[in-house]
Amino acid sequence: MTDRIKYLLGEDEIPRTWYNLAADLPNPEPLLHPGTGAPIVVDDLTPFIPEVLARQELSREREIEIPEPVRQIYAQWRPSPMFRARRLERALDTPARIYYKYEGGSPAGSHKPNTAIAQAYYNKEAGINRLATETGAGQWGSSLSLAGAMFDIDVQVFMVKVSYHQKPYRRLLMETYGARCVASPSVETEAGRAILAEDPDCSGSLGIATSEAMEVALNDPATNYAGGSVPNHVLLHQSVIGQEAIAQMALADDYPDIVVGCAGGGSNLGGLAFPFLGAKLREGKEVRVIAAEPAACPTLTRGKLAYDFGDTAGISPLLKMHTLGRTFIPPSFHAGGLRYHGMAPLVSDALMNNLIEAEAVKQTACFAAGITFARAEGIVPAPESTHAIEVAIREALRCREEGTPKTILFGLSGHGHFDLSAYEAHLTGALRDEDCDEAEMARALADLPGFPGA
Ligand SMILES: Cc1ncc(COP(=O)(O)O)c(C=O)c1O
Repeated sequence: MTDRIKYLLGEDEIPRTWYNLAADLPNPEPLLHPGTGAPIVVDDLTPFIPEVLARQELSREREIEIPEPVRQIYAQWRPSPMFRARRLERALDTPARIYYKYEGGSPAGSHKPNTAIAQAYYNKEAGINRLATETGAGQWGSSLSLAGAMFDIDVQVFMVKVSYHQKPYRRLLMETYGARCVASPSVETEAGRAILAEDPDCSGSLGIATSEAMEVALNDPATNYAGGSVPNHVLLHQSVIGQEAIAQMALADDYPDIVVGCAGGGSNLGGLAFPFLGAKLREGKEVRVIAAEPAACPTLTRGKLAYDFGDTAGISPLLKMHTLGRTFIPPSFHAGGLRYHGMAPLVSDALMNNLIEAEAVKQTACFAAGITFARAEGIVPAPESTHAIEVAIREALRCREEGTPKTILFGLSGHGHFDLSAYEAHLTGALRDEDCDEAEMARALADLPGFPGA
């Protein structure tokens, strides 16, 4: 008998509902209207997103049905496999049992299509044929471009300039799917022009690219905005990951002591971990959840918990979240998808309620962990995902020191096939650890919006 490696579910086991952690949290903080400071209502969101998504954004229902056409497209790559990392366990000589849920088998190469498909579906149903969005590393932009191709929707992607130049193949993937990709800040929007007037060499940030995409949606009734990471409805859609993982853990006759996910805006972490947190809150099933974030953009470990804008220009609703300040520009480290100044409010809420922990990790250690993983398991992980691998390996080594055979599950949120130049930088010793710039953080935090109730 060979040792079992993959835990697979059938297509009929793709979840039928999404899971909403907001139903099980004691008191999630509302989104606030930036003008009045009053809690956001559905009508405040409909200039950007269709009414169904606006309702999901504000919902406290525990389960929301997944439309059949969305499940049908999910079946192109879902249920995603869960692997037992036996070769990694042996390489680390650890008594820990390590599992990973692999989202890199989606057509775009990450977890992001789980929400891109759902958002494109609802927009198409609402008669919208144009979507605007931002992207950092290009994973989200590729995923929305894929969804646009599937639902015949024109997609415009504002890609953070530093990534646009570092990752030409991500841009080409978006164009192959039929999208238009623009380096941000761009001259196409007020927000972009204002930033360029101040700093013509600005390398961009997710906050700036988000402002550009939201401005396009706001100024054109035929165009909507689609967010890939932070909004509640995005985390809702990603909950298929954790729900499948719970079923796969049952197949393995095991249950995680520790769940690890990398956190940029929070959707991969939330998607994997929230169904486990729901089981903890409702059924008392103990689990330790760790968010792995980059030391160069340490939102959860060093940010301030406050109301702030999701974008740099201040177009979005105000979100109660851990933030480094909406004008914060992190150093140009390679995990472009983790360069966001804020965090999903539901993830921030979970941290505030001690339901999760957060650890900041340095990029050279993450790439080293990614290489250890690739050489043991064969999959080259996305730079973002290496943050989760680094934390999972640390925990596995602690198990070795303490002689405790814990069960560790981590999210392998994407593959790194478009990121080999970053691996090259690591392999040739050119990669440096850039610390978070204290002065930059203090400057950006001094700029938090002041308003009644903030
Ligand atoms: C592979 C991968 N993992 C994780 C992330 C981080 O985003 P989030 O925190 O929304 O999952 C990204 C973002 O682009 C990504 O591409």
